[in-house]
Amino acid sequence: MTSASKQDRVLIFDTTLRDGEQSPGATMTHEEKLEIAELLDEMGVDIIEAGFPIASEGDFNAVSEIAKRSKNSVICGLARANEKDIDRAYEAVKHAARPRIHTFIGTSPLHREIPNLTQDEMADRIHETVTHARNLCDNVQWSPMDATRTEWDYLCRVVEIAIKAGATTVNIPDTVGYADPGESAKIISGLIEAVPGADEIIFATHCHNDLGMATANSLAAVAGGARQIECTINGLGERAGNTALEEVVMAIKTRSDIMPWFTGIDTTKIMNLSRRVATASGFNVQFNKAIVGKNAFAHESGIHQDGMLKNRENFEIMRPEDIGLAGTSLPLGKHSGRAALLDKLKNLGFDVGDNQLKDIFVRFKDLADRKKEVFDDDIVALVRAGGGEDDGYLSITSLAVTCGTGGPAEAKLVMEVGGEEKTATQSGDGPVDATFRAVRDIYPNDAHLELYQVHAVTEGTDAQATVSVRLEEDGNIATGQSADTDTVVASAKAYVHALNRLHTRRGKTGEDEKEISYKDVS
Ligand code: KIV
Ligand code: ZN
Repeated sequence: MTSASKQDRVLIFDTTLRDGEQSPGATMTHEEKLEIAELLDEMGVDIIEAGFPIASEGDFNAVSEIAKRSKNSVICGLARANEKDIDRAYEAVKHAARPRIHTFIGTSPLHREIPNLTQDEMADRIHETVTHARNLCDNVQWSPMDATRTEWDYLCRVVEIAIKAGATTVNIPDTVGYADPGESAKIISGLIEAVPGADEIIFATHCHNDLGMATANSLAAVAGGARQIECTINGLGERAGNTALEEVVMAIKTRSDIMPWFTGIDTTKIMNLSRRVATASGFNVQFNKAIVGKNAFAHESGIHQDGMLKNRENFEIMRPEDIGLAGTSLPLGKHSGRAALLDKLKNLGFDVGDNQLKDIFVRFKDLADRKKEVFDDDIVALVRAGGGEDDGYLSITSLAVTCGTGGPAEAKLVMEVGGEEKTATQSGDGPVDATFRAVRDIYPNDAHLELYQVHAVTEGTDAQATVSVRLEEDGNIATGQSADTDTVVASAKAYVHALNRLHTRRGKTGEDEKEISYKDVS
């Protein structure tokens, strides 16, 4: 085995499909998970944490299918510290050429209270469960959840037990995003120094971003001797999210002068993955997000533009091409044909099939009739708006809205529900409220609106609005997305899209599938 402190290669462990997807509202469909896993594999991610197989049938199936289709990446499944979870995780990952079981238990005083175990009882449980996992699979990762708030002596003790029981990777999670870079480095270097056998395994770092320090903490942990960074695309994840893959990878690449390590990531695939994950999760990337934000390479101010024209390096430390951002490209218009659209989609990293192209082309033509120039971001919005499993049970036939300063808004809506046309007129506090009321009048439902978000895709008053709607119904969460130059129409379509996805899911599972969270420690 390689000594953690000697090798320069930092392994990238992507947990977008597990820690990222488990964040409320980021639920992805089976197909979306398979597609993202394939892209991660192609990008050179060393380990893909594909899900938490015991959590639900859906998670199990996704992990098994990802394992079967995997090419180069190690495929990992998460399991709590009990045999049933571990067996289930192995059942799912065993199809991979390179499977890994990742088992964990909360070791801090607060987390030990949940299963109500003493330090000794927990130590025994760690020994038993890591041994059990290792008997099934020769690649086992173990994590002391909330490690950064675990007593130092106890942390050293349990890490040693896990190594002796056969863990090949020990991950040190900063579960609540509490540590600072100095501590992150010190914990890893301290463990390497104090724990017998530590130089025989790989130490991983897993940071959450509650204090905005996840990237700094991950890199500091590597300086301390960790050689695996756990991260997600766009920093997706619960609360403030996980370490962003694109940030640590580009930091290592850009500052090789002070960070003498490398990763196996093909960075030119970053932008495509970022877009795919934003689409599938419904979590838009903030405009000024490092590396993948819309403004990350935009130079608006006069001084900056002048400097850029003289020499790019005046204001650019990375090249947009390095993350797969094509240089400035010409907008499409109403005379652009199918071939031009396909070419544009390819440049933007979308590999669409014939049917999808047909669908996008119809919507592109419709948009081009209403909007003089169709920019790259408009095309991305069109693709996003058409995504997701949706059985088309509900569809909007027409919508007319009146609003103004004189009183409540009114929406007159005609919709097809399972092939039957229905009409409703409703008033509300603004055009969107009136429209959503009309949808509920036609299709009564108990889905709770958790999020309603509008973004202008480009500048100008003819810009498309992309709308994301997140609904919750009996623990099931569905997001819907749509784009239109009319914000109210986009809102109605996004709402209906989310309702359709809930309807589709109800049809598939028969009844609601109650998912287990990885925090339900038992
Ligand atoms: O944040 C965390 O502690 C986790 C563990 C399950 C590794 O995600
Ligand atoms: Zn986590």
